[in-house]
Amino acid sequence: MRNTVLKLTPLSANTGVEIAGVDLANPLSPEAAQEIRDALNTWGAVFFRDQDITPDQQVAFARHFGTVEKRTHPSSMSPVEGTPEVSIIHREPTDGRNTGGFWHTDQCFLPDPPLGSVLYAKSLPTRGGDTMFCHMGAACAELSEGMRAMLRGLKAVHVRLNYHGIGGKPQWGVTPDELEFFTMKYAGQVATHPVIGRHPESGQEILYVNPIYTDRFEGWTREESQPLIQYLCERATRPENYCRFDWKPGSLAMWDNRAVLHYALDDYAGESRTMHRCVVLGPWLQPAA
Ligand code: SIN
Repeated sequence: MRNTVLKLTPLSANTGVEIAGVDLANPLSPEAAQEIRDALNTWGAVFFRDQDITPDQQVAFARHFGTVEKRTHPSSMSPVEGTPEVSIIHREPTDGRNTGGFWHTDQCFLPDPPLGSVLYAKSLPTRGGDTMFCHMGAACAELSEGMRAMLRGLKAVHVRLNYHGIGGKPQWGVTPDELEFFTMKYAGQVATHPVIGRHPESGQEILYVNPIYTDRFEGWTREESQPLIQYLCERATRPENYCRFDWKPGSLAMWDNRAVLHYALDDYAGESRTMHRCVVLGPWLQPAA
């Protein structure tokens, strides 16, 4: 990897790199943009410290990587006033539910999920609230050739509603009335994607499953599918395979939604946390074969 401008510090063996030497309030030079793209292709997630940016500057940064989504589908997040491309992820001290508090990729239940997400810390708890990232290219490479060959022939069905209830049964503290509401709100947010895809830039094979939204393999029952889906997810998310990013004021993360799972930790009870997120659209995973 070229590194003529920026200083890169990897956070773990396979996932995540911290990048110093760039001020995201200013337009990126073509060299810096290319180095960040290279780092994203290698490490799946890039992290910046001490940034002081507006929502418009966050969107300008994200545009270096693709088209920034103007949201058209129902979502749990509200937009920033004046910059509708940026959504607010806010949690009050009394909120029971933690957005993204499980291993997942963003919007896998849509036919064209975003290529990446950009998350900027606006206000943080005094402790906790880290986010973990896990590289699914590394996870795929660790599987046996026999398992990979079998998985290359499979597609999986990803279901938005699984976050609230499975098979009509409420999960994780959701009430039956809430489940009825979410069932209407998220009707149709179901998509099928290959279980192994090829990354359009790095060429790496990626295991594209996650433990909640991935409901079943196409043509299999949920009961048949779940043991293998859970095995793959547990194996992929071993501590050896993930990094943990400790947010500080001014921290910004961008992750490749095709290559990593992420998980927002729920360990700051009684405090609030506010993040600004925008998502970037672009080329999706290619067929593996
Ligand atoms: C998300 O899942 O997109 C949110 C991650 C976070 O808030 O750390």
